[in-house]
Amino acid sequence: MKTTGAAIIGCGAIAPLHARAIASIEDARLVTVVDSDPVQAAQSAQDYGCEGLTDYRELLERPDIHIVHVCTPHHQHAGMAVELLNAGKHVLTEKPMALDVPSARLMQAAAEKAAGQLGVVFQNRYNEPSVRIKEVIDSGSLGNLLCMKGVVTWTRSEEYYTNSSWRGRWATEGGGVLINQAIHTLDLLQWFGGGDLLSVKGSVTTDVLNEVIEVEDTAHACIDFKNKVRGLFYGTNAYQVNSPVELELVFEQGTLQQRRDSLYLWKDGLETLLCEPQTASTGGKSYWGSGHSRLIHDFYAHIREGRRFWIDGSEGIKALELIAEIYKSSGSRNRVPQAQHS
Ligand SMILES: NC(=O)c1ccc[n+]([C@@H]2O[C@H](COP(=O)([O-])OP(=O)(O)OC[C@H]3O[C@@H](n4cnc5c(N)ncnc54)[C@H](O)[C@@H]3O)[C@@H](O)[C@H]2O)c1
Repeated sequence: MKTTGAAIIGCGAIAPLHARAIASIEDARLVTVVDSDPVQAAQSAQDYGCEGLTDYRELLERPDIHIVHVCTPHHQHAGMAVELLNAGKHVLTEKPMALDVPSARLMQAAAEKAAGQLGVVFQNRYNEPSVRIKEVIDSGSLGNLLCMKGVVTWTRSEEYYTNSSWRGRWATEGGGVLINQAIHTLDLLQWFGGGDLLSVKGSVTTDVLNEVIEVEDTAHACIDFKNKVRGLFYGTNAYQVNSPVELELVFEQGTLQQRRDSLYLWKDGLETLLCEPQTASTGGKSYWGSGHSRLIHDFYAHIREGRRFWIDGSEGIKALELIAEIYKSSGSRNRVPQAQHS
């Protein structure tokens, strides 16, 4: 029986992945879609055979809606999530959790008091290579992790920004390649690195679209963790294709490399393929990865079983904190040590 009622706020590019995942959950039903654009709301309601609204506040008092997916522009996430949590709803928000760290902390505070849960969509943690890498780190099967790197070379056109009311602006996107595209890879690096930052030195620049966007299109960083692991990161939207994200993790007794979405182990002079890309179409863009459905299913399972979802506010905020340190250190000659963080 479909006992869990769901709503999606924001019916843009990412919403169909959420709608499709909800439809595939046995006890869940998409009751309502909300978009401030009435044409978009009506179209999506028709597409998914559900109710369409233009004001998300109408969800607050609705007893038939238990889980709300926040798929709106970045600057809207925090305000919506806090109101929904205060109204007793479970909230699954798209990344980034919020526009900035202070807004994310407001969400965390609301979640701590709320009956409902807050989940953050970092679906790349569900990619098979990510899961295998984390298993190797946690099991110690290759010894300690020594260092790692993450490289994101993607393309975003002028039209991607000019056709959008919110992308490319500090007030609405909160940053550029760091907070929108490379945040997934930064989240993986901090997850693999154990989360506790020692110091960060980064640099951001706008290499190509400086006439079009306020925010950076390119960034790099050297991230030191308290456990002595060092992570190097490079991310750009100024490439001319969307290359698969590359990851390398060097351990005491071997090296893991993610290339072309496959994971390889290099050990004792031999390379072994550990996992290949999943071929099933997710209905989204290939560079979004295939983890949305798995994450959404897992979020619903945690709620159904009364367990705390693991990518909650305290996990979701970590990539945002790392990004804030990269911005803070950019342009200075100094690393930003964790102890000086405000
Ligand atoms: N996890 C991923 O891989 C992934 C991929 C793409 C986008 N995203 C994230 O999803 C979110 C949405 O991105 P998108 O690409 O779908 O954006 P989009 O611009 O395509 O869609 C946003 C939609 O929200 C609607 N909206 C704006 N303000 C609203 C309001 N107050 N109430 C209701 N609706 C409102 C807009 O009308 C629009 O239809 C962003 O946070 C983005 O970073 C995540």
